[in-house]
Amino acid sequence: MALNRRIFVLGGHITPFIGKNHPDFIWKRHPDFGKRENPTLEETITAAVRGALDATGTPAAAIEKAWIGNFVGELFSNQGHLGAALVGAHPDLLYKPVMRVEGACASGGLAFASAVDAIRAGHDIVLAAGAEVQTTASARTGADYLARASHYARQRSIDEFTFPAMFAARAKAYRQAHGLTEEELAHVSVKAYNNANKNPLAHMQAVKMELERAAHASDKNPAFLANEDLNPWLKVSDCSQVSDGGAAMILVSEEGLKKLGKSESDAIELLAIAHSTGNLYEDGDPLVMDATQHAVAQVYANAGLSPADIGVAEVHDCFTITELLMYEAAGWADKGKAVELVLDGTTAIDGKLPVNTGGGLVGFGHPVGATGVKQVLEIYRQMKGQCGDYQMPTQPEVGMTINMGGNDKTVVSAAFANR
Ligand code: CAA
Repeated sequence: MALNRRIFVLGGHITPFIGKNHPDFIWKRHPDFGKRENPTLEETITAAVRGALDATGTPAAAIEKAWIGNFVGELFSNQGHLGAALVGAHPDLLYKPVMRVEGACASGGLAFASAVDAIRAGHDIVLAAGAEVQTTASARTGADYLARASHYARQRSIDEFTFPAMFAARAKAYRQAHGLTEEELAHVSVKAYNNANKNPLAHMQAVKMELERAAHASDKNPAFLANEDLNPWLKVSDCSQVSDGGAAMILVSEEGLKKLGKSESDAIELLAIAHSTGNLYEDGDPLVMDATQHAVAQVYANAGLSPADIGVAEVHDCFTITELLMYEAAGWADKGKAVELVLDGTTAIDGKLPVNTGGGLVGFGHPVGATGVKQVLEIYRQMKGQCGDYQMPTQPEVGMTINMGGNDKTVVSAAFANR
């Protein structure tokens, strides 16, 4: 659907994404163990929302409506009803209309899409946030919680690590169909970690991933699935992280810009947004992300863009194979050829189409509900030259986000222009 009003992203705030192997993450061998604790879900939401208000100079009282994307706060943190938790971030949010939205790993994208709908409907200043805290459980227990994003009754038994296993199945199908080698796929992980090493907010900021380690299963990089058929097709280095973190952003209309005393040059403009939903009970061709393809095609059509127009992108690399499938769904590579964009440097920070410059879900981390909001803010930050050591050499004119929930079931994609 074409936009009936101009809509701007005015910026926002991303908390550090932390978890195992992050220097600030408290675990039993951390020197601060027993002295302080990792931020809770409630604290993470507050930090993201207050940070977004501060970063954009938006008084909390000016927020007309807000959304919070979160997948399973009830399971990891015994906490639901997160609309009311967001209100707790600032006294001036009291009694405002706020709700939580859920679409698995696309929950943040749905918060963003809901905020856009509100501006289309006449609101001028709204807030979209996302947050998840996942380190309260072991990776194995967390995998059971995250499996609620699959069709649990049918797919939970594939492996205790259900999502890694579902994408191992895609990796197997893809590598067999297209002859992609383990070492070629490893370059996707190396790119993610290299980018994250330059990003002070990234979960994997301090972890090096050499090609040698990423390309072969070893004690340091185990193939950990119990499903014997799928085990050889996925290693720890192929996976996104179990991270805690939050992000929040302010969206405004032209009137909203004026009310806040801002100009277009403070913002990036939304060119188009699409939200596509697949059928939970049926899975299609493992070589194609069809819901993603559907969403991206609508974005191109509504924005009057073609794949070649995109100058920076954030795609949902929940696993390394997903990043390659996203390139193909977005029309940047022919089927089976996506890895060439990684191997020839096209999607590196200094390439023609930098993708996941802050490290993506593999390197920056993946606090599920926050990811879709973080992606939009990363495009904002690249366009405004705020990315520090991972800033692109030339600031991009047009950017794209693709946030995906489940196994290509809920997809929110958008395109933006710098102003
Ligand atoms: N040798 C053999 N096996 C080993 C091993 C070694 N050296 N080290 C670990 N393992 C195995 C063990 O079986 C271990 O299980 P136990 O702890 O129960 O023994 C298992 O691997 C996990 O080990 P860790 O807990 O030490 O692993 P970790 O904390 O380093 O986590 C990871 C690694 C399992 C890959 C974890 O990062 C992970 O689960 N990542 C994926 C997260 C995920 O799936 N997110 C959702 C993405 S899908 C999406 O985005 C869409 C949606 O809607 C959900």
